[in-house]
Amino acid sequence: MRNLLPFISSHPGGRSALTCRFRCGDACFKETPNTSDNEYAGDIIAGAVSRRSMMRAAAVVTVATAAGTAALTGPSAPQAEAVALAGHGHQPGHPHKPAPSGARGLRFSPVAPNKDDKVTIPDGYAQNVVIRWGEPILRGAPAFNPDKQTAKAQAGQFGYNNDFLSLLPLRGERGRQVMVANHEYTDEILMFRGYDPANPTREQVEIAWAAHGLSVVVVQEENRTGKLGPVNRHPLNRRLTATSEFRMTGPAAGSTLLRTSADRSGRKVLGTLNNCAGGTTPWGTTLHGEENFNQYFANGTTDMHKRYGIGTSATERKWERFDRRFDLAKEPNEANRFGWVVELDPYDPDSTPRKRTALGRFKHEAAQPRLTSDGRPVVYMGDDEKFDYLYKFVSSKRMKKGNSRAAREHNLTLLDEGTLYVAKLSGDSPVTEIDGSGKLPDDGEFDGSGVWIPLATGTTSHVPGMTADEVYVYTRLAGDKVGATKMDRPEDVEPSPRTGRVYVALTNNSDRGKAGKPGADEANPRNSNKHGQILELAENWDDPTSDGFAWRLFLVAGDPDDPATYFAGFPKESVSPISCPDNVAFDAHGNLWISTDGNALGSHDGLFGVATHGDRRGELKQFLTVPAGAETCGPVIQDRRVLVAVQHPGEIDGASVEKPASVWPDGPGKIVRPSVVAVWRKDGRDIGV
Ligand code: FEO
Ligand code: CA
Ligand code: CA
Ligand code: CA
Repeated sequence: MRNLLPFISSHPGGRSALTCRFRCGDACFKETPNTSDNEYAGDIIAGAVSRRSMMRAAAVVTVATAAGTAALTGPSAPQAEAVALAGHGHQPGHPHKPAPSGARGLRFSPVAPNKDDKVTIPDGYAQNVVIRWGEPILRGAPAFNPDKQTAKAQAGQFGYNNDFLSLLPLRGERGRQVMVANHEYTDEILMFRGYDPANPTREQVEIAWAAHGLSVVVVQEENRTGKLGPVNRHPLNRRLTATSEFRMTGPAAGSTLLRTSADRSGRKVLGTLNNCAGGTTPWGTTLHGEENFNQYFANGTTDMHKRYGIGTSATERKWERFDRRFDLAKEPNEANRFGWVVELDPYDPDSTPRKRTALGRFKHEAAQPRLTSDGRPVVYMGDDEKFDYLYKFVSSKRMKKGNSRAAREHNLTLLDEGTLYVAKLSGDSPVTEIDGSGKLPDDGEFDGSGVWIPLATGTTSHVPGMTADEVYVYTRLAGDKVGATKMDRPEDVEPSPRTGRVYVALTNNSDRGKAGKPGADEANPRNSNKHGQILELAENWDDPTSDGFAWRLFLVAGDPDDPATYFAGFPKESVSPISCPDNVAFDAHGNLWISTDGNALGSHDGLFGVATHGDRRGELKQFLTVPAGAETCGPVIQDRRVLVAVQHPGEIDGASVEKPASVWPDGPGKIVRPSVVAVWRKDGRDIGV
């Protein structure tokens, strides 16, 4: 451990500058791309829609209340015994501690905040590393050797910086599941010994291309434990990289805005980039958001390049030196072919994954569908940038059940036809009561109503002055024009499979309330927002065309001792501190699990569970923490297993291969490797019961 660097954070928030540099192209240090003054335009365009919609929103709440489903009723008062639980200072391992209490599924002793260079899990649980960066998964791929990396080897090995994870069933193969993983970005300084950022070699660049993208890898569980390991060379195993073939589909496919000199059709794209989070569809495919794609493109020239955060000079990784398509001065449309939601059919290793233009183009964090009562998928999506927007897509088609070839082919068209919407939220408290401090308004809640403003349906644009192609390719501009609400970095969005309520992680926004920037509003109620919040929406699942919703803040994150925090009204002395909610997932009990990115409270990032209904609604408990410099990603919560992606371990300012800031997962002297971790209960019982 001697070579470990002290924890330094030069970023506003808990993230290291090294993470900013490689992950999002230093977005926080650059001008916020949304400089639109969209309120005025919004009032004109949305005005007619919104009065009707507000009335409908009110109706939705009433109807849903009567049905006892999606309405936002107040949290039930926590019962006295709920408060008896150990607080966030509780240390696991006390010999006389009572059995952990909590909501069903969350009965574990919370992990205390810490800075240990390991994955810390609750008492009575066990863990294993499922797969590491560089482990071979395809036939012919060699074992990982950090000093003999090649692009060819990497293309058959598990990629770098695992993020989103999905586990899908694999029928007929006992104890096996199909795992799909995103590989968001590469950190060359932590990958290559002696890396020279000013002069990357062609081989290093090609390794980075191969380390991006997606992995499909079949995993096998060990008898009677939750332990998982990869099945090398399984026929479903697959790598998709920055140079694999993808097809553009949906209403904007073939648009002139998507054509380049290498692809006159505007339908065939090489690669997927910066796949952050994603989603798993009810029809057995996976969705993958292309997030900070802007950072890979050099020499941006247009206003639209700027609106998407694309710089005007060379890039950090210098890919433009090795492939002209990354130089927008030469190929101005190439960047338009990134920033989409990708759909992959992991059961068909020969299928070409599709970029779904109907879901719009922005910095897609994730895409999680839920079906309406009549079987149409609704996909929720956040645009992860300060002051950018929250979207949803509603398909005009119904999912076909079953696994027949016809059903599967039909379901692969669901995300090509429908309506794309952006959210506008209004608070119900007087604006004078929203003072930017996080103090609750007099009605006791940050809440209100909202409207989904339609942007385009198929080839019909609903945005004056923009064609449908423009709406899909320049979706941010469409949001500006209709007056969408500028949010605090909308990340993952997850509809509850049980209640239908929709949860939106808003990570943070250090610029909220700064001079010349939007100030606090009821949905984004803190200026210089360091810790983020989670928004809860009530949707009308019985009417896919309904455009109104009710909303409230479910959590306002931070140290519970900080008066500017809120945990759905649950007693704060009984919850874990949390900062920067990012990815979210549900367990079978209806608890929301939240992973964090950039903890600004001084602890390492982690994974938390919180009850969303019942007496313990708002009781938040920390389940694990990750090693130094890492972020917690991709949580999957199964009955007997929790799966997390430990992303960018050791990514701390000043670290390199030679001077590691973490020794995870393999100990001193071994290169730090982003890896997937499985956690299960030693007694074999379900998680948290
Ligand atoms: Fe890749 Fe929005 O985090
Ligand atoms: Ca992430
Ligand atoms: Ca209110
Ligand atoms: Ca994220």
